Amino acid sequence: MPQSYISGLGHYVPPRCVTNKDLEKLMDTSDEWIVERTGINTRHWVDIDTESTAGMGVKASLIAIKNANINVEDIDFIIFCTLSPDYFFPGSGVLVQEQLGLGTIGALDIRNQCSGFVYGLSIADQYIKTGMFKNILVIGSEIQSTGMDISTSGRNVSVIFGDGAGAAVVSASEKKNRGILSTHLHSEGKHAEELMAKDRCCTSEKGKPFNAERFYPVMNGNNVFKHAVTRFPEVINEALIKNGYLSKDINLLIPHQANLRIAQFIQRTMKLRDDQVFNNIMNYGNTTAASIPIALSEAWQQGKVNEGDLICLAAFGSGFTWASALIKW
Ligand code: UT7
Repeated sequence: MPQSYISGLGHYVPPRCVTNKDLEKLMDTSDEWIVERTGINTRHWVDIDTESTAGMGVKASLIAIKNANINVEDIDFIIFCTLSPDYFFPGSGVLVQEQLGLGTIGALDIRNQCSGFVYGLSIADQYIKTGMFKNILVIGSEIQSTGMDISTSGRNVSVIFGDGAGAAVVSASEKKNRGILSTHLHSEGKHAEELMAKDRCCTSEKGKPFNAERFYPVMNGNNVFKHAVTRFPEVINEALIKNGYLSKDINLLIPHQANLRIAQFIQRTMKLRDDQVFNNIMNYGNTTAASIPIALSEAWQQGKVNEGDLICLAAFGSGFTWASALIKW
């Protein structure tokens, strides 16, 4: 049976960098509040006239394909993870297929928000292991900035989220004990309304006043936080136990970049050293489905992901959904 491994990584963020000070001009917030509660200093926002969710995914993918040392034509399936597709339907995966000129290969969109990329990786892993495909593009891409309430009423959500894309090529290998060891997926839909966008596609309700609560994402931040700090360690331990490892064996944990305080909480609970956890939320904010592939790509670029390393990816978010992947690089 072939093993699956990540053969190439890439990421792209739009050039416009938005600081906390910039946000102070849009809403009643402060650099101090944002840094203390979230750890975020800057995030990137698109110019919507020149960028698209699929287009950013393509930019990240071309880098990932180059780093995988394969040609675009070698990609035989696309998995696109996003909560902010270009259209309500169809999904953005087909737009990537078209923009990359990939004939008529299959494309699948995943709407699992912050856990989307790990869910996508899990699907790619299964397709590779059954021999159905050899090189699958798994993309996480988000444009959040155009869909948020950037006035004071939306400040608990809009200071956190940013735009960007990350991509991984998942390939087949005959090498044993290498690559994706296992993935673990969970959901608990009774919490669906704790972090949600109700009617994003319905811009107007005839005869009714505009209802921001229905259109913009809403979040019960405190409750999401409480569940996150329980579910992250739980799903990381599940992956470690399944493969006979302990937390001290992890070379690098890449948690979904939700909030630096959540990542620090996980680090303390799991008794991990600073060098065992990668965070870049300070620079990009929370980019939902794109956050793990952006962080993984950046960690790899910085030489923090090397052959033989035990890498753990873990995510939690809207749904609630949560997931982990353990990888022997
Ligand atoms: O990736 C998907 C998963 N999402 C998450 O994991 C997010 C989890 N939750 C969080 O990260 C945090 O709950 C937040 C960062 C969203 C909020 O932090 P908090 O410490 O839970 O603050 P809070 O919601 O309890 O609000 C505290 C105060 C409130 O004012 P009062 O009622 O105490 O007067 C808020 O109105 O802070 C106020 N506030 C703000 N003040 C300045 C909320 N947002 C802001 C803001 N700037 N941006």
